[in-house]
Amino acid sequence: MWGGAAGASKGGGFLAEMRGVAYPIGMAVREKITLATLRARKRAKTPITMLTAYDYPTARVEEAVGIDSILVGDSAAQVVLGFDSTLRATMDFMIAICSAVRRGAAGAFLVGDMPYLSYHVNTEEAIRNAGRFMSEAGCDCVKLEGDGRVADTVRALTAATIPVMAHLGLRPQAVHQFGGYRAQGRDAKSAQQIIDDSKRLEDAGACAILLEAVPPEPARIIAESTELPVIGCGAGPYVDGQVLVLHDAIGLSEGPLPRFVKAFGDMRGQLHTAISAYAAAVVKREYPGGEHCYQMEPGESGKLRPVATSL
Ligand code: KIV
Repeated sequence: MWGGAAGASKGGGFLAEMRGVAYPIGMAVREKITLATLRARKRAKTPITMLTAYDYPTARVEEAVGIDSILVGDSAAQVVLGFDSTLRATMDFMIAICSAVRRGAAGAFLVGDMPYLSYHVNTEEAIRNAGRFMSEAGCDCVKLEGDGRVADTVRALTAATIPVMAHLGLRPQAVHQFGGYRAQGRDAKSAQQIIDDSKRLEDAGACAILLEAVPPEPARIIAESTELPVIGCGAGPYVDGQVLVLHDAIGLSEGPLPRFVKAFGDMRGQLHTAISAYAAAVVKREYPGGEHCYQMEPGESGKLRPVATSL
């Protein structure tokens, strides 16, 4: 996975600019993951790894691990800002956090999530907003939620050279229409609708499909009938890759969580332990120790006078 250092240099402690992205020189730099890489993974039946990230330090870790694709999801409104839905994410917020993630993960295929109402009003506004993800934040692709009715928007963005990942199944931006966060496509009629919609969006130019909270059967039909990478988020094992919300995957989220979530760590517990240790050390005056203090130059402290009560 860690490959031939395209354009990377070695040695030194300064930053080099590559595709407008700062590559720390001296770090191993992997080959840039592109749409062609993801398609090749699908052809080779090698699962694509995708995970969300919302900030620079996490992006650095995901890049170091070699995660293929990072989604800067509008789930940030919930897991980072504490809102109760994704509807509260704004364009400026998404651009700021996408740029931070790009600075931390130069090699990953970066997907920027278009927030609520940023692509619904008209095509011109959709192109302008999607273009910001590409030109300001350095994304490789944008993601938008929708059924077959967003086909014209996907067509317009694609014509404007903006690659689009189409998000089908449970679409959190439509939570009020769905009446809650529910799995979709559980009966044949609605599953067929998702299958047909995915074909409409592919025909409109979508470069990848994301399926959220749908049963494995329709997901399999979709994945097997297209050359596009199909990424599942609660769509079973027969798709081309998997994505989870970072906070769910590392055990930082507070429940209840969707059935498809698996926590691969206990980051909440680890944070609790570290923060508790810090607080206890401060209260017990164990921190700071001598090693954490700046030293005055020799002989200088003796020249200090107490604070005068009145001058
Ligand atoms: O916003 C997000 O994080 C997403 C994932 C749930 C796929 O869209």
